[in-house]
Amino acid sequence: MSPRHFLTLKDLTSDELKQLLRRASELKKIHREGTLFQPLKGRVLAMIFEKSSTRTRVSFEAGMAQFGGHALFLSSRDTQLGRGEPVEDSARVISSMVDAVMIRTFDHETVETFAKYSSVPVINALTDDYHPCQLLADMQTYQEHRGSIEGKKVVWVGDGNNMCHSYINAAALLNFQLVVACPAGYEPNAELLAEHSDRVTVLHDAQEAAQNADLIVTDVFASMGQEDEQDQRVKDFDGFQVNANLMAQANQDALFMHCLPAHRGEEVSADVMDRSDSVVWDEAENRLHAQKALLEFLLCR
Ligand code: CP
Ligand code: NVA
Repeated sequence: MSPRHFLTLKDLTSDELKQLLRRASELKKIHREGTLFQPLKGRVLAMIFEKSSTRTRVSFEAGMAQFGGHALFLSSRDTQLGRGEPVEDSARVISSMVDAVMIRTFDHETVETFAKYSSVPVINALTDDYHPCQLLADMQTYQEHRGSIEGKKVVWVGDGNNMCHSYINAAALLNFQLVVACPAGYEPNAELLAEHSDRVTVLHDAQEAAQNADLIVTDVFASMGQEDEQDQRVKDFDGFQVNANLMAQANQDALFMHCLPAHRGEEVSADVMDRSDSVVWDEAENRLHAQKALLEFLLCR
């Protein structure tokens, strides 16, 4: 039987995603109570990083340790993958020795190829196109603060990037309306938009988009790999900062999220990051609990 992978949110059904989010909150409770729960004793997760990370590495590594398993940190600087060993060969070899593989890389095709040749579940820990693990944490966080996100209005402010694409998938699976507010030329993938035109609207005015929002989310102007475009993007994203004025357009009980790391003063003002409606720290912590639920789902069935 071929293993179950998690390359985008669409690898889960709507029901599986909802169940996983409920489980994430249960696992959080178990962890906070100090109860030892070790369903992955003796199991190993390989973590391949071709881009930097704080949250993703710490949450997967800590999660595996708490579950009684082990996580292996593999930087492309130190593995043969980084010296050109084919992805297909690396996938066969690494998956023959571990129970699951997590990959953070550039091309989404790399995780697809790895998954195709892997004998164990492969988890996408961010590609240029998608960041599904972050969405698990974001959706868990919304649910914990405000209940079901179904029927709510979520406003994505900024680049139509990997995070935005995963929000589009989440809108489809969890049945919420997504408004993407981005400068012209920074729209999300056209095919994905067309596929979800019933749930997603694109506007080029952040103020208009933010009206009556239940959740406002943003991300950096320049993602990893786009460092050369930083100066141009700062100019192009003028008017797309989430600040007190923009938050004032949203509903009274609207929340603010950011996957982090954040650049205060660029995509988000410093005051919004630290307001009580900002749930960015819970969102970061929930990476741990949501991914533990994901690991349990992929490895304990
Ligand atoms: N949000 C997120 O994925 O953070 P890291 O890049 O620190 O892993
Ligand atoms: N869009 C950002 C997310 C970082 C977690 C990036 O890809 O760099």
